[in-house]
Amino acid sequence: MDISVKAPAKINLTLDVLHKRPDGYHDLEMVMTTVDLADRIDLTETTGGIRLQSTSGFVPFDDRNLAYRAAVLVKERFGITKGIHILIHKRIPVAAGLAGGSADAAATLRGLNTMWNLGLSMEELAELGLALGSDVPFCVRGGTAIARGRGEQLTPLPTPPPCWVVLAKPPHGVSTAEVFQALKMEKVTSHPNLEGMLHALENQDFNQMCDQLGNVLENVTLEAYPKVRFLKERMATFGANGVLMSGSGPTVFGLVNKESVARRVVNGLRGFCRQVYAVRMLGGLEEGSIE
Ligand code: C5P
Repeated sequence: MDISVKAPAKINLTLDVLHKRPDGYHDLEMVMTTVDLADRIDLTETTGGIRLQSTSGFVPFDDRNLAYRAAVLVKERFGITKGIHILIHKRIPVAAGLAGGSADAAATLRGLNTMWNLGLSMEELAELGLALGSDVPFCVRGGTAIARGRGEQLTPLPTPPPCWVVLAKPPHGVSTAEVFQALKMEKVTSHPNLEGMLHALENQDFNQMCDQLGNVLENVTLEAYPKVRFLKERMATFGANGVLMSGSGPTVFGLVNKESVARRVVNGLRGFCRQVYAVRMLGGLEEGSIE
């Protein structure tokens, strides 16, 4: 059986770092939501082994790839001798703060669960996914959630009010590990207001959602990469209602409630950045994107 699975990117509406843990990870508190910028994973059963191909040259084809590792994990854990061919139709920028690799891994887990009749629940798939990366459990479930701990303790939240999300990815990638390493907790003077963001989502209040955007990791990435700060400023100037860096960056997103303004922001940014997208906050790719 061949299976095709959608792997949407995520953005962080808030990202707070509470403290560094003895195991080297940080305890986080984040509001994450899937956006309508997605890779597609085609899974084809073969007689043995794991083979991975991608439409993008930026993606590793071996066990540095999280989707590849997801297949290894499933085969080992469940003693599956059949092989799998994984084709990643890449659309989400790589090393961008959008959890593209984690989304691919999560989609592979979901797809193999169906293909090989493993009968795993979403919770079990999310638990399996944590061995691959901190963002994988969220990507297994998608939607909107508070993510705590490493990112695996998930509390579902209401879908944000409908709007456009303009994404701008500077040419360079960012290493999440390096950003966390460079974070000096004593220098973090302001933290996102989780309660304020929850209130905005409960009340479907677009303006309050824009006001409550916050990401502690901007302290590191905006300092290290002035282009990220520049893109944030440009996005606001062109009319985005709220602007933030996603994850550890370097992608910057702007929330916009009018399609005409989203188009203006995209066209304005094109002069400064090659990878610019406008997508809907949630839903199928079919709902529309401006490129
Ligand atoms: O879990 P994942 O492999 O995606 O994390 C990449 C790196 O980001 C980790 O090696 C760690 O340095 C950092 N990280 C962290 N705390 C988290 C998640 C990630 O310090 N909650």
